[in-house]
Amino acid sequence: VTTSYIIPALRDPHQHLREDLELQHTVEAAELWCDTILGMPNTREPLTTLDRAKQYYLGQVRAYTTHLTVMPCLYLTEDTTHEQLKEAADHGINSVKIYPRGKTSHSQHGIRNYTLIYPQLDVMQSLRMTAHFHGEHPESDPWTGERDFYTQIFPAINQAFPRLRMVLEHISTKEAVETVLKGPGFRVATITPQHLLFTIGDLLQDLDSALHCRPALKETPDQRALQSAAISGDPRIMLGSDSAPWKLHKKRPTTARAVIPCGCWTAKYLPIYLATIFEQLGALDKLSTFAHHNATQWWSLRPTSRCLSLVREPTTIPHLTEGDYIPLCAGATLPWSVERHYT
Ligand code: DOR
Ligand code: ZN
Repeated sequence: VTTSYIIPALRDPHQHLREDLELQHTVEAAELWCDTILGMPNTREPLTTLDRAKQYYLGQVRAYTTHLTVMPCLYLTEDTTHEQLKEAADHGINSVKIYPRGKTSHSQHGIRNYTLIYPQLDVMQSLRMTAHFHGEHPESDPWTGERDFYTQIFPAINQAFPRLRMVLEHISTKEAVETVLKGPGFRVATITPQHLLFTIGDLLQDLDSALHCRPALKETPDQRALQSAAISGDPRIMLGSDSAPWKLHKKRPTTARAVIPCGCWTAKYLPIYLATIFEQLGALDKLSTFAHHNATQWWSLRPTSRCLSLVREPTTIPHLTEGDYIPLCAGATLPWSVERHYT
C-alpha cells in the first residue's frame, strides 16, 4: 500500500481569483499547491480590454502573489475587435475566454450567437492564441447545455478553424470526452475535481447547493467517461479546477427565492481531492500527468523545483474556510493529507 507520494506542484489552467479581499484569499489558496494557474476574466467588471486586463493581472493580482505564476486571459464579447485581440497578444495575453451569455456566473457579456465571433476566432487562429470554451449552448437549459453545445455549435467551429488552439473547459459529458479524444493534440480539455468525485445524484440526494456548478454535474456514465479520461495519461486531458470562491450566505441563502450561484471552492484542498479520486480509481501514478505534466507540455511551461508530498493520513475538510467559503467535501474526512516542499 502506498503511504506517501511526491508530485510536482500543481498547474491549474482554470481558477477564479475574483477581486479585492477575495483576491487575497484565492491567491493564498492557489499558491498553497500550485506554481502556475490561469486566472479567469469574469471579474465584476469583466476583463474585456487590454487596459482592464493589465490593471487586473499586473496591478491587483501581482500585489498579492509571491511565488505564483498567473497566466492572463481576455474575456471575449461579440464586440471584441481584431485590434483588441492583436494588442492583447502583443502584450503577452494569449488566452481568450468564450462564455455562453447568461449561462454561468458573470457571463452576461458573453456570446449569444457563435457565428458572430467567427471573425474573432479567425484572428485568434492566425495569432496562435488559445480559445477557452465554456461549452454550453446559450439557449439550452443546464441539463442539456453541454451536449447541445458539442453537438450543435462546436462541430462547425471545429471545422471552420482547424488550426485554432482550444481548451474545452470543465467537460462534464461523455460527448465532450469523445470530442476532445477525436481531435488533434492542440485541442485539450480540462476536468474539475467535482465532476470526477460527484454526480447529479449526489447533488439531489441532499439537495446540496455547494455542489451546484456549471456545467452541472451529470450521471454516472458521464462521470465514468471523465474518470477514465483523467487517468488515461492522454496529453489532451488535464486538470482545470474551476475553483470558485462562494461564501456561505450566498451558497446557502436563508432568504426565500434567493438565486444560488454556481461554483465549487476547491483551491484550498485541491491535491487531497485529486489523490482521493485517483486512488479510488487505482491510478495514483497518473495524478502528476493530469495535474502537472500535461499543462506543462501544452503551454511549454518551465519545469518546477517545487513539489508536494501526499501522505496517506486522513484530513477532515472543515465546514468553512477562512473568509467563510464552503470548500468542496465540507465536513468530510478524506484519506489523504498534503505537505509542500517549496524552496
Ligand atoms: O460553476 C461555475 N462557477 N462555473 C463557471 O463557469 C463560473 C464559475 C464562477 O465564476 O463562479
Ligand atoms: Zn470557471
